[in-house]
Amino acid sequence: MTRKVLVTGGSGGIGKAVAARFRRAGDTVVITGRDGARLAATAKEIDAEPIACDAADPRQVRELAEAIGPELDVVVNMAGGNTDIGRPSATDLADVAASWRANLDANLLSAVLTTTAVLDKLRPGGTVINVGSIGAEYAASGYGAAKAALHAWTAGLSAAIGPQGLTANLVSPGYIEETDFFHGRLTDQRREALIAATHTGRAGNPEDIAATVEFLASTGARHITGQTVHVNGGAHTTR
Ligand SMILES: NC(=O)c1ccc[n+]([C@@H]2O[C@H](COP(=O)([O-])OP(=O)(O)OC[C@H]3O[C@@H](n4cnc5c(N)ncnc54)[C@H](OP(=O)(O)O)[C@@H]3O)[C@@H](O)[C@H]2O)c1
Repeated sequence: MTRKVLVTGGSGGIGKAVAARFRRAGDTVVITGRDGARLAATAKEIDAEPIACDAADPRQVRELAEAIGPELDVVVNMAGGNTDIGRPSATDLADVAASWRANLDANLLSAVLTTTAVLDKLRPGGTVINVGSIGAEYAASGYGAAKAALHAWTAGLSAAIGPQGLTANLVSPGYIEETDFFHGRLTDQRREALIAATHTGRAGNPEDIAATVEFLASTGARHITGQTVHVNGGAHTTR
């Protein structure tokens, strides 16, 4: 059976690699992003269907759900990023509030809105895969807090949708290169520190995450749900 897959934030970075992997496996793939021109170019390159949508905007997400058709099998909530990058650190309380709200919108609300909008389209055996961050483990920022909330919400979502034969998991990447996440602002010193924190001695790449997402959406992962799967080369370990 051909599956239908939605990858939000599929126009670049990790999401593009995830979408391309599903497409190579023969699935029908819809990708979203805010920059329509980049979205269209990526869709052409990987043979996916583009639907421009800001995942943090309820109206646009409603329109996405209407445009996507009646049935879905896999939802990958990839859209997100640290909205503080490139901005001066906030001290004024109004700026602190704006900074935190921007990260909560981009990284938590984006996944909650998209999932809520398309949940009733998921066929039995379907799955929701959210994308968190190693920052959820330690970052004292709106970004870290938003991703930590996403981790917790995924566990509750799993309990809510499990009886319908659906699963929900979260993939939590460590440092992944070949993305626009840092907007070109990652210093060599910080990059070296991020790599030194791993056990593998290397940065992650989008295919590391895409392979994990592919597995979580496979029939072999049907008893895995409500979990946070860390993909970080050992930079954060769990027992
Ligand atoms: N790279 C890392 O080291 C790293 C580490 C941990 C977690 N992550 C997480 O991995 C995910 C993907 O990040 P990435 O590294 O691949 O970054 P990226 O290269 O900047 O790609 C982000 C993608 O998401 C889209 N996007 C961003 N905000 C969106 C929104 N509100 N609505 C729809 N699309 C949106 C972007 O397109 P438009 O800008 O055109 O919308 C782009 O396609 C994010 O959730 C990020 O927090 C990344």
